[in-house]
Amino acid sequence: MNIEQITICGGGNGAHVLTAIAAYKGIKVNIYTPYGEEAQILAEGVLENNGIEAVGNFGKIKGYPNKISANPEDVIPGSQLIVIVTPAFAHERIIKDILPYTEDNAYLGTMPARSGFEFSTLDIVEKEHRKINIFSFQTLPWACRIREYSKKVDIMGLKDSVGIATFPREKSIEAIQFFAELLDTHVFPIDNMLALSLANIGQIVHPGIMYGHFRNNPDRIFTEGEIPLFYQGIDEETAVILEKLSNEIQEIKRRIEALYNDSLTLKEVIPLQEWLINSYEDEIRDKSTLRHCFITNKSYDGLKVPVKKIEGNIYKPDYQNRYLIEDVPYGLVITKAIALMSSVDTPMIDEVVENTSRWSGKEYLVDGKLEGRDIESTRIPQKYGIYDLDSLIKKIVNPEA
Ligand code: NAI
Repeated sequence: MNIEQITICGGGNGAHVLTAIAAYKGIKVNIYTPYGEEAQILAEGVLENNGIEAVGNFGKIKGYPNKISANPEDVIPGSQLIVIVTPAFAHERIIKDILPYTEDNAYLGTMPARSGFEFSTLDIVEKEHRKINIFSFQTLPWACRIREYSKKVDIMGLKDSVGIATFPREKSIEAIQFFAELLDTHVFPIDNMLALSLANIGQIVHPGIMYGHFRNNPDRIFTEGEIPLFYQGIDEETAVILEKLSNEIQEIKRRIEALYNDSLTLKEVIPLQEWLINSYEDEIRDKSTLRHCFITNKSYDGLKVPVKKIEGNIYKPDYQNRYLIEDVPYGLVITKAIALMSSVDTPMIDEVVENTSRWSGKEYLVDGKLEGRDIESTRIPQKYGIYDLDSLIKKIVNPEA
């Protein structure tokens, strides 16, 4: 992969970090952001600050982006690599905007994928007859927050390793080499993009914990001091909900692997407790139960339930938060769609999706079927004409077979 110019799509936390790092390392970095006035505000701030600074335990680095625009024509042509770093609900719109301006054989992907990215992106690319390589990260490599918009971003942590899947599969070696050098972390290949969709751990943790906290009283209100701890405040029943969500996904994995064991692996799709222990080995004091992996995990210290202020010192749960509006339609609903194709029953996924989406004013499932009025806003494979498992595997995992 010979990368001289990259375009980063998005202007949020992760986009700030990636811009600072890539530009600092001497790559020509363009930024595409069609979101409100963001391009203009970003350009003004960068100019004033002479670049974007990323600050972490390694010290500081600063990088100056080449061009920032809300017009894809200004910033996409000439880029060998395009990385979308936004919440999943913005992916499809951005891909449709930029695709006509991409170079042949460019790499286009997301950091991170969430679920269903492969179905939506392949569909758009095919319809537009573009020749490009697709990639996706399992997770954002950093925990990061903008300190001062367009100027300074804090990197609170860099993950020890991050997985990447590509389409076609054989492009992964090139992508891994490039990103490992760019990100200064271990980058490993994930066999296929279906594994990324199912291994999206946020789909279990975020909706599952929100449901656990408010299942008995979604209208609960609290004073600031009463806002529950999101992870460390979970009760036994919430842990059971999380365990069941995880088990249902494991059952889907088992079913698909049993049917297609000669052509794919879903080994990244691991049970929640195992994922927590792998990810937070040294931070968890008591690894004996799933609940204890949350409540004794130091990385979760102080993190509270997302809330909205009603007035004064009174708050209510924020059901428009990313934990629900991203992780349900671009997470659990996609998994449900794959479960239906795999003939796996998912009573707990259904219960969590039906209740949490109602709290957010959305409807995806009706009596366990993908017939809710908002189903078209998700990225379920059925929306893109993939109705059974054989077609899904052929298209996403094994197109050459
Ligand atoms: P962010 O919330 O900072 O991203 C917001 C940006 O997305 C906006 O500034 C805009 O550029 C773009 N955007 C939002 N809505 C849009 C729309 N309708 N149309 C076009 N563009 C739109 O997101 P962040 O923090 O950079 O995260 C990116 C992804 O990584 C998300 O999926 C997030 O859940 C995930 N993630 C973030 C972590 C973090 O520490 N920031 C950690 C782990 C995962």
